[in-house]
Amino acid sequence: MKVTVLGAAGGIGQPLSLLLKLNLPAGSELSLYDVAPFTPGVAKDVSHIPTDIKVEGFSGDDLGKALEGADVVLIPAGVARKPGMTRADLFNINAGIVRDLVAKAAEVCPEARIGIITNPVNATVPIAAEVLKKADVYDKRKLFGVTTLDVIRSETFIAELKNTELRSGSISVIGGHSGTTILPLLSQVQHVEFSDEEIKSLTHRIQNAGTEVVEAKVGAGSATLSMAYAAMRFAVALVRAAQGENVTICSYVEGDGKYAPFFAQPVRLGKEGVEELLPLGTLSAFEQAALDEMLPTLRAEIENGVKFVTEA
Ligand SMILES: NC(=O)c1ccc[n+]([C@@H]2O[C@H](COP(=O)([O-])OP(=O)(O)OC[C@H]3O[C@@H](n4cnc5c(N)ncnc54)[C@H](O)[C@@H]3O)[C@@H](O)[C@H]2O)c1
Repeated sequence: MKVTVLGAAGGIGQPLSLLLKLNLPAGSELSLYDVAPFTPGVAKDVSHIPTDIKVEGFSGDDLGKALEGADVVLIPAGVARKPGMTRADLFNINAGIVRDLVAKAAEVCPEARIGIITNPVNATVPIAAEVLKKADVYDKRKLFGVTTLDVIRSETFIAELKNTELRSGSISVIGGHSGTTILPLLSQVQHVEFSDEEIKSLTHRIQNAGTEVVEAKVGAGSATLSMAYAAMRFAVALVRAAQGENVTICSYVEGDGKYAPFFAQPVRLGKEGVEELLPLGTLSAFEQAALDEMLPTLRAEIENGVKFVTEA
């Protein structure tokens, strides 16, 4: 399997490349691309780590070469938030970057699974879908918004609050990937009881965890290291599924449209990407109210993304 990272020289891209070199199955290939001219150097650096994964690096006009034969394309290219900015503030710059990178992927590796990390994910994923539709290669089973960071933050914060063992895959986070559209289903976490007050404050903390990092980094960027880990976990799940394993993850995908055209939810992955949309399970009254309340925001953000391509 070949995994291509677009934006590989950035704050997320570099540690993600490192983690992929350490965690992809033996025999995988890693292709690193960024507009930054030192990207081949990032690839050279990572290539000295002794794992059975071939690494190549590209920059400038070599995007097409980086994408040749890719089975998985991960996109963390773009600008990140500074204090006081929302993810929506990133729209104008990042929308164009994602549009152009996905257009090239549609041309060079139309069958690849694409994971979008670039914010605002609620809008950049619909942008990617419209670009793929225009190129006549859209397969909704193969396009993903990477929301794994919301899941790992939930896992960590629950373990911290309740002094329990960390359980990977113990929680679903549904909706989208910005502010109130991030909805952790705390009522479904097994073996842990929360008070109403804990549910409220933990939900709020998970929704605002990105801002916690942006503020603590005092202007130097947003989450990069935890995001790189989250994206590695997501990419390894995609690769394992493509190789025939049954894997369940939460991701922002084009689902059945019940709540919004794109929606983060648990999905079962298989060889061709999303094999099955898994049920959300029973929501508590608090979660149902939060879901109802966030949907207009999520739908508007999706619409913005669609219009960016269709009304251009
Ligand atoms: N999905 C999530 O949970 C999540 C979490 C954190 C950050 N993010 C988003 O990820 C993105 C990247 O964040 P970062 O901290 O790594 O930013 P960064 O500025 O450190 O890195 C971005 C990289 O993208 C590169 N780039 C810009 N335009 C490009 C293009 N056209 N082609 C290839 N590369 C290009 C830049 O050269 C840079 O190396 C941001 O949009 C950020 O908001 C998403």
